[in-house]
Amino acid sequence: MSVVQRITQLRAELERHNQAYYVLDAPRIPDAEYDKLFRELQTLEAQHPQLITPDSPTQRIAGKVLDGFAPVQHAVPMLSIHTETDTESSGAANFDARVKNALDVQGGEIEYNCELKFDGLAINLRYERGILVQAATRGDGETGEDVTQNIRTIKSIPLRLQNCDVDVLEVRGEAYMARKDFNQYNDRQRALGLPTLVNPRNAAAGTIRQLDPALSAKRPLSFFAYGLGEVKGWTLPVTHSALLDALQLFGLPVCQVREVVQGAASLADFHQRVAAMRDELPFDIDGVVYKVNSRAMQLDLGFVSREPRWAVAHKFPAEEQLTTVRDIEIQVGRTGKLTPVAKLEPVFVGGTTVSNATLHNEGEIRRKDVHVGDTVIVRRAGDVIPEVVGVLPERRPANARAFVMPATCPVCGSHVVRAEDEADARCSGGLFCAAQRKQAILHFAGRRAMDIEGLGDKLVEQLVDENLIHSLPDLYRLDRTTLAALERMADKSAHNIVAALEKSKRPTLARFIFALGIRNVGETTAKDLARFFGSLSNVQAADTAALQQVPDVGPIVAQSVFDFFRETHNVEVIADLLGSCGLVVQESAGSSAQVLPLTGKTYVLTGTLPNMSRDEAKSRLEALGAKVAGSVSKKTDCVVAGAEAGSKLDKARELNVRVWDEAVLLQHLNEWERSVFKGEYEN
Ligand code: IVH
Repeated sequence: MSVVQRITQLRAELERHNQAYYVLDAPRIPDAEYDKLFRELQTLEAQHPQLITPDSPTQRIAGKVLDGFAPVQHAVPMLSIHTETDTESSGAANFDARVKNALDVQGGEIEYNCELKFDGLAINLRYERGILVQAATRGDGETGEDVTQNIRTIKSIPLRLQNCDVDVLEVRGEAYMARKDFNQYNDRQRALGLPTLVNPRNAAAGTIRQLDPALSAKRPLSFFAYGLGEVKGWTLPVTHSALLDALQLFGLPVCQVREVVQGAASLADFHQRVAAMRDELPFDIDGVVYKVNSRAMQLDLGFVSREPRWAVAHKFPAEEQLTTVRDIEIQVGRTGKLTPVAKLEPVFVGGTTVSNATLHNEGEIRRKDVHVGDTVIVRRAGDVIPEVVGVLPERRPANARAFVMPATCPVCGSHVVRAEDEADARCSGGLFCAAQRKQAILHFAGRRAMDIEGLGDKLVEQLVDENLIHSLPDLYRLDRTTLAALERMADKSAHNIVAALEKSKRPTLARFIFALGIRNVGETTAKDLARFFGSLSNVQAADTAALQQVPDVGPIVAQSVFDFFRETHNVEVIADLLGSCGLVVQESAGSSAQVLPLTGKTYVLTGTLPNMSRDEAKSRLEALGAKVAGSVSKKTDCVVAGAEAGSKLDKARELNVRVWDEAVLLQHLNEWERSVFKGEYEN
């Protein structure tokens, strides 16, 4: 094979993998394999620079630092769309009425394509004979900026279209930053003490208008196509929905949340359903867009004042609002962490009234320069807790007050400590601190821990404040009369709580370990510890080396567990719970550890199994003592693969891990379950 042929082959293959990974979200080869192909191409191109073309995957991050962006005249202007912020049904109904009126439609319903309104930056991609030749921002609609270099770093944007050699095809869409990428970037920046990005929308805009493409490449963006600009040499599909299908076939990313519907009522219905799932989407949206589906009708409808009459944006409540900071208070968490919380002038944002927003830690307050009295931007997106994302310094009043982290805990007066390499300040009071005690009790009683129904924050607050509970064992000494004497507590509820306490006295080992609230020990680690050690005394006795034998337990977790059981107070609490309180930890289920057929084995499930749900497979494996992990490693004993299994299956093959299909799994499950049932593995 000639060098030219090999280069062409490598480029095609790499772009196919890019597409699989970034557009279809289903990687087909392991990263290492991709890197190998990429390096081979880089080497060949270095040896034959005359063969480098702009559509080569190596050219995505090859740009130079720019002085500025060249202007780009849009062949077809980039318009904006009319926005309806009205209540749910009337926004859709108004639009539908305008369309019907303009088209003079009497009976019957209009067909619409419903889409999401992505919250990013509008981009025009220009493909000539299938090759990406230019990318531009919207600018004023007539003239935008040439941002080709930065757009090339967006891996989901094909540099060459598939099955498309149309003379000119301008594709319009939105560049955005996914929430996961936004959070990851900010977490990393925060850990390094560097400035964070304000919101995904600004992040996208800032990244695209970045002069150094190497910096752009560090901030991963994504793209969704939603329309066209100039087109030459292509007969357009007759509907907008068919156009999106066609763009998808060219390899462009098109959002799968889209629907063809008839009439105004269905538009309102779409709006409502999308509003309900807004929090779960992996990216920010600020509304939905309705478009008349028929292109012929679109042409008929035309434009008014630079807005198409055939499309409308129907917005959702904003996820960011301005408000003022009344005060900054300190909240003390279960592990003593002190979190500064902004007390806000209540404001309606992201669908609820917000009056508190986290400021994370002292460093974050310094970086954002938040003062009491400031006007701030509050953000509540997804189900994330509300956050202060920035300050409007020009609105700072003269009497604004800077924040000072107190030297002593505002709840218990113990001194506040902050390790040199840690961002968080902590109260050193431990369970002497009422705030930590309240949180520890709430955690202990929680649904995933001891599951003591009815023991909520209001009640715990009262119990601690009235000195009825000093530590966990006191819970089990509460009686009905004491409880019933509390404010807002009826005799019946008092009875229920005593019953719930009684019912909680036989926890599994895993729940009990989790309930203790050991730092760095979440539910999964608690399960792992229980499974590995089988009994509480074994966990208590383990040294850090033994603890690190547990799969997924590293030095930090091992140290936390070890330290916890060396603390006299903790040992006393446990002895008291198991002694005078009468708790009996169900060790036989836990010490399944030594006795169940899959004890110590790690399974990974991937793809869709033909008959069994993933949850079912998982719980049956776990009931047999296996650990079901999310990723494949050398420690994995077996991978169970169903249809469309992706990178995990590849990884399993690469590491020579055993792979089963559902039939084989079922055969084994049945056998093991029978043997356990017969008591073969029981004590
Ligand atoms: S269509 C002629 N569809 O919203 C119609 N726009 O004012 C052109 N946007 O900044 C726009 N999602 O970037 C359309 N599914 C979608 C959209 C969308 C977001 C943005 C667009 C522009 C603004 C429209």
